[in-house]
Amino acid sequence: MTRILKDQIKRLNQIGIALTSETHLPSLLELIVREARNFTRADAGSLYSVDRNQLRFEVAQNDTLAARKNEVYESFRPYPMPLDKTSIAGYVAITGKTLNIADVYELTGREEYRFNPAFDERNRYRTRSMLVVPIRNQSGEIIGVLQLINSLDENGNLVVFERRQEDLVASLGSQAAAAIENARLINAVHDIFAALVRYSASAIDARSPHTAGHSRRVATYSMRLARAVNEETNGVLANVLFSDKELEELNYAAWLHDIGKIGVREELLERVDRLSSSDMELISTRFEAIKLAVARDFERQKNELQYSKETDHFELERRLREVDEDMAFIRRINKAKNLTSEEIRRVRELQGKIFRNARGEVRAYLSEEEAHHLSLPTGNLSGMEFQEVQGHVLQTLNIINKIPFTKDLERIPVIAAAHHEKLDGSGYPLGLTAPDIMIQARILGIADVYDALTATDRPYRGAMPVEEALGHLIEEAEAGKLDRDLVDLFVRKKLYEGVT
Ligand SMILES: [Fe+2]
Ligand SMILES: [Fe+2]
Repeated sequence: MTRILKDQIKRLNQIGIALTSETHLPSLLELIVREARNFTRADAGSLYSVDRNQLRFEVAQNDTLAARKNEVYESFRPYPMPLDKTSIAGYVAITGKTLNIADVYELTGREEYRFNPAFDERNRYRTRSMLVVPIRNQSGEIIGVLQLINSLDENGNLVVFERRQEDLVASLGSQAAAAIENARLINAVHDIFAALVRYSASAIDARSPHTAGHSRRVATYSMRLARAVNEETNGVLANVLFSDKELEELNYAAWLHDIGKIGVREELLERVDRLSSSDMELISTRFEAIKLAVARDFERQKNELQYSKETDHFELERRLREVDEDMAFIRRINKAKNLTSEEIRRVRELQGKIFRNARGEVRAYLSEEEAHHLSLPTGNLSGMEFQEVQGHVLQTLNIINKIPFTKDLERIPVIAAAHHEKLDGSGYPLGLTAPDIMIQARILGIADVYDALTATDRPYRGAMPVEEALGHLIEEAEAGKLDRDLVDLFVRKKLYEGVT
């Protein structure tokens, strides 16, 4: 074995190792063409993939054209070509034969394929020698074509590709095939996993119209914020740069952050009002009965009190209006987020009020249970229920801790589980403080609060106007709960715009 051949085989092995470590498909294809060109000292090279009945142009490299710095040359456009024997690449893809052509302009005309000079003409380039090899996978199928153009000798003169290069490039082709199939497989597994995550999260969100689409939007806001951080050139955020893997990690964490809500009772997710709509209907019917009772009582009293006719009418109207006002009050506070002590007192008053129904039984305006829910001072959930809802974070952690993420995605559980933590320690479930809350979790927290405030798919409570929601974020930042720089970036760059 000559020394040159030994060196080349050694080099081929090195290339094989380099190829298997690249799993990003477009970069891998670029690498294959570059290595094959280095190997054969080719000025240009292209790679086509076979896609059913088409040839897809994946990579085009051309040193001569790239060196014409001040000139715009035809940039690479991935367009498909029909898979047939009329083109050189098509011929190789169909027959599986290697073509080593000395000069494409000197073809005899008896070949089944033709050279298309259009590219040369448009770019003032002269294609001469060409080495075209099929790329076969392990089952012998042709999955692509590698086309090397214009071999140069040591002095940069155009020469013909050497015969012995054919075999070496062919074996490079089969290494490339293994790497391409590997990358495709990894991508497919990725895609399946990503689709499964999106599907599960969306299905859980859709259990309640209150949360439908929430995880998807939180992921969108989080990614926008993280990319904006990467673009920052001023302030503390200028020092933060998320890698592609870190962005992917954050994206998964955002999609999965509320997956633990699967363990929260549906009625609690639904509970945007203090009382359910069926409870409210019950009260509303009762208040109609109360009005009848008021009218009945009045009728009886009237005979006893002997009012004038006008006073009669006026007095009855007044009493009925009072009942309507009580009902309107109940409807209003049912949707209110926070209650004043005056409002709580009025609820208790209504609980103490009684009437006599059509059967003559004494009933209260509001049951104790109803009054209890209506008068919860903050939020619409009782203490126990609130704990159940808060528990979703631990459930999220339990669920995603069971997913065997690869090393570069291993912080997904930690990021997701901290989405309700606040920098001042007032969040949950752990009450972490600033130094223990990763910037990714801070981003996720802001995205989560913003979407919770502005989601338009809430059935009863209207969406909060954008300005008001931003005001709320700013207040939380000023109170030391949310990250000030991140909130500022979110507001300044209008990262909330156009998300539906
Ligand atoms: Fe949450
Ligand atoms: Fe959330």
